[in-house]
Amino acid sequence: MIDSFEFILPTKIRYGAGILKALGEELRDLKARKIMVITDKGLVNAGMLDKVTKIINEESMDYVIYDEIEANPKDYNVEACAEVARLESIDTIVAFGGGSPIDAAKAVAVLARQGGKVRDYQGKGKIKEDCLPLITIPTTAGTGSEVTFSSVITDTREKFKFTIKSTAIAAKTAIVDPELTLTVPPLVTAATGIDALTHAIEGYTANCTEPIAEAVGLYAVEYISGNIVEAVKNGRNLAARDKMMMGSLLAGLSFSHADVASVHCMAEALGSLYDAPHGMCNAILLPYVMEYNLPFAEYKYARIARAMGIVEKNDHEAAVKGIEHIKELSEEIGLPGIRTLNVNPADFELLAEMSVMNGSNDSNPRKVTKDEYVLLFKKAYDDSFFK
Ligand SMILES: [Fe+2]
Repeated sequence: MIDSFEFILPTKIRYGAGILKALGEELRDLKARKIMVITDKGLVNAGMLDKVTKIINEESMDYVIYDEIEANPKDYNVEACAEVARLESIDTIVAFGGGSPIDAAKAVAVLARQGGKVRDYQGKGKIKEDCLPLITIPTTAGTGSEVTFSSVITDTREKFKFTIKSTAIAAKTAIVDPELTLTVPPLVTAATGIDALTHAIEGYTANCTEPIAEAVGLYAVEYISGNIVEAVKNGRNLAARDKMMMGSLLAGLSFSHADVASVHCMAEALGSLYDAPHGMCNAILLPYVMEYNLPFAEYKYARIARAMGIVEKNDHEAAVKGIEHIKELSEEIGLPGIRTLNVNPADFELLAEMSVMNGSNDSNPRKVTKDEYVLLFKKAYDDSFFK
């Protein structure tokens, strides 16, 4: 019997190459009068933001741009941005970017209306429905944040990443246009792509998963693993970018309705302590956590392997080959090892402590204690399979 569960998807998804043009219509539907576009400086400097402002200008709507969001978005980014949103009487937010601007925008949507500090909203159920309406437009295939209900923010004082989770912060509309990813550089494509693959694998195998999250997670594995190499090596290939974008979206649906697990617990610890790119942290840790989980997730890991094209009848053999394949993929797309992050082994205890404290720790298919996290960090450090 399938356990009872709930599946809520409050976000309208508009998907397809060129669909960015629907932004004007979506803003009109929301009756937007004063818009804040939340993004980062990289997208402004690359001229990407012009695609968005051109559409808003055509609608003759008033807007302000907030482009101060940093990678691994910081508490002070969110609080400063929310203050501007209040002062400018913003009524609609457009988040344009990778996971950082989108996650920050979700938190701004809360703070601008409900006040307080962003950490006040950590965890589940602290948010009232009254948030600024949000349109998300992803420019990377990785985070899935355009359709998730969570926002991961760094507490800069404690150097700790925390998550706020509520369907109230979900976007009203996600405009998901793979054309926006055609110019993403290879290393960013690689790192964000493995982040999406990790979402799919963790969403599919999390203790709290359910059949819809499993189904979309498994399909995401197929899309991502089959296209990541081409998307990295031939970024202008729209067909590969298309599958990566859809894979990332499906993976986002999977983990937001289930959860992420220990790879993310460790990756978020690394990300908060060293301000390291999130996708890269996941890529470094994913195979080691899978090896650890294997006895508790063999059947599902075998299905993941088969979704990646591995033909092996025996589940154990398939699962082992699947993990090997993930290592090969990461190597082929040029992701570096843990040592390139200048990780200090003396920090392993602290990193392990942070991993245990992560809200997703209980979702891992195999229990992980602090000592076991230390061993996993050590393994990733000593046995780094990357060059
Ligand atoms: Fe992630």
